[in-house]
Amino acid sequence: MSFYDKIQATATYIKTKIQHQPGVAIILGSGLSGLADLISKEIEIPYSEIPNFPLSTVEGHDGKLVFGTIGNQQVMLMAGRFHYYEGYSMQEVTFPIRVMKALGVHTVIVSNAAGGTNPTFAIGDLMIINDHINLFPEHPLRGPNDPRMGVRFLDMSSPYDTDLITKAREIAAESNIKLREGVYVGLQGPTFETPAEYRWLHTIGGDAVGMSTVPEVIVARHCEMKVFAISVITDLGVTDTPVTISHQEVLEAANAAAPVMAGLVEKLVKKM
Ligand code: HPA
Repeated sequence: MSFYDKIQATATYIKTKIQHQPGVAIILGSGLSGLADLISKEIEIPYSEIPNFPLSTVEGHDGKLVFGTIGNQQVMLMAGRFHYYEGYSMQEVTFPIRVMKALGVHTVIVSNAAGGTNPTFAIGDLMIINDHINLFPEHPLRGPNDPRMGVRFLDMSSPYDTDLITKAREIAAESNIKLREGVYVGLQGPTFETPAEYRWLHTIGGDAVGMSTVPEVIVARHCEMKVFAISVITDLGVTDTPVTISHQEVLEAANAAAPVMAGLVEKLVKKM
């Protein structure tokens, strides 16, 4: 079966389970599963039941699609994403994004936990991603291009939707949420960075660094969906004194910031 046919088959299966076509998809990052409470849930489908779906392996990621509403928007939520460091191919990592498009999604909200490389940032800050630097060793659009899925040479001059960024800024101002904005550097992990790497990432223009998001954003843009992306800064690589980081600390910091992020995302979806 071709990649295109696999996507269609998965979407066809999901359509038999849901009552309404989702317009907005939300991808939950590490430690941000609390955002799932935003949605008035209609149905949950575990990845294990979805044909062609990979299974997520990482602690803190659940592995299910949740369909329901936020306000009067039909929303699907992806609880548990696929990371390149887990060993998935880039096609597997971004497969759910293709399925979202096939289900009728027009806007994807991507969240993640990230390390701060900007010295003005603090742990717990939320950062709107306004641009990215792709340092993954493999590109999700590498290989033959199927024109049914998008163009061969994709414009990336404005991957993050400027209207949604403006709306998020307005919401943050109204709700007294301190919001940062900056460039997310995506790399493969699974190691956190050395002090020299954090310094270098800031030198090349990064404000935050993480192991996800960039492949998904590229593919969402390839299939012409709008993208809004936001990081919670869970640790800092901003001093020359080495600071140890653990996955546990990342999860705890993300959990602590999740309610504020949830409030922002809820208002943003209602304003769409
Ligand atoms: N580096 C890479 N990925 C991350 C980090 C980090 O410091 N924090 C959370 N995810």
